[in-house]
Amino acid sequence: MQSKIKSLKKDVLSALASAKTEEEVRDLEIKYLGRKGPFSEIMRGLKDLSDDEKRTVGKLANMTKIELETAVHAKFAELEGAMMDQIADTEWMDITVPGKKPRVGHRHLISKFIDDLEIIFGRMGFQVAEGPDLETEHYNFNQLNIPADHPARDMQDTFWLKNLKDSVLRTQTSPVQIRYMEANEPPIRIVSMGKTFRKDSDATHSPMFHQCEGLMVGENISIANLKAVMTQALQQIFEDASIKTRFRTSYFPFVEPGLEIDCTCPICGGVGKLPDKTPCRLCKQCGWLEISGAGMVHPQVLENVGYDSKKLTGFAFGMGLDRMVMIKYRVNHLRLLFENDLRFIAQF
Ligand code: DAH
Repeated sequence: MQSKIKSLKKDVLSALASAKTEEEVRDLEIKYLGRKGPFSEIMRGLKDLSDDEKRTVGKLANMTKIELETAVHAKFAELEGAMMDQIADTEWMDITVPGKKPRVGHRHLISKFIDDLEIIFGRMGFQVAEGPDLETEHYNFNQLNIPADHPARDMQDTFWLKNLKDSVLRTQTSPVQIRYMEANEPPIRIVSMGKTFRKDSDATHSPMFHQCEGLMVGENISIANLKAVMTQALQQIFEDASIKTRFRTSYFPFVEPGLEIDCTCPICGGVGKLPDKTPCRLCKQCGWLEISGAGMVHPQVLENVGYDSKKLTGFAFGMGLDRMVMIKYRVNHLRLLFENDLRFIAQF
């Protein structure tokens, strides 16, 4: 029995010595030291031995088992250490190497301009309202006093949606006025900036363009308020306190009277000539630029949204943003605004 234990010990130690993986060691552990292994068998067999043998064999078996368990644990530790060394050799990195900055995009000039407008009008108490790009005929036209047979519909070359009855890509931001008034009580002071769509496409027109709509409704709102707001806004937009505005009469079905707002040319300062006496090409030497449609909200439009047109008045304006962006940032081709070439966009 004692020699059997000694040869078992030799077997286990040599198998351990040649084991290469933790799995092999675990298998050895189960095979020799587990509940069904030879040592358990020897212990179970002790009862059949004489008292003397019981003592010596039992002691030897116990000591050997403990010795082998220690050897198994040492082998586990050795293999783990080797694995850590290998990880340290193959998976290291140099944390002193400078990082690579991921290339992110750049905010578009028009988006920035829109943010600026929100701040400028926000300082005058205007909140930002929003409306959908895909509008209904009802909001884009009817509620704004432009019924189906109205000649003013021809003023705006509309994209109709073939498979979606009564739907249009909004031709103007003015429907946001209606949506906002329907959902809110006066007094109202809002601006709404966004995309608008018309079938124009040439060097100075893009089928998708941007407008800023403004609306102020309350008691005793007058053209004087419109003049103050627009003059203030344009001075801040062009960062030029000398800018002046003038109003000319015009026609839009949803305002009465309808107006066209001009401001003094920010390039030549309203003089028509540049400091070196060359003619100003932007304003074609007249000193004024057409900037915005506007007017006093038509009583019918107020009634359309359930407002009392006897008590309330208001002004509205709608201006194209793309040309203003071009003027402010001296961009000479409209297409540069819409090509999304990062080399251009990243300059602003
Ligand atoms: N929606 C008009 C257009 O796109 C612009 C406009 C004119 C808006 C007068 C207004 C306004 O709010 O009062 O041509």
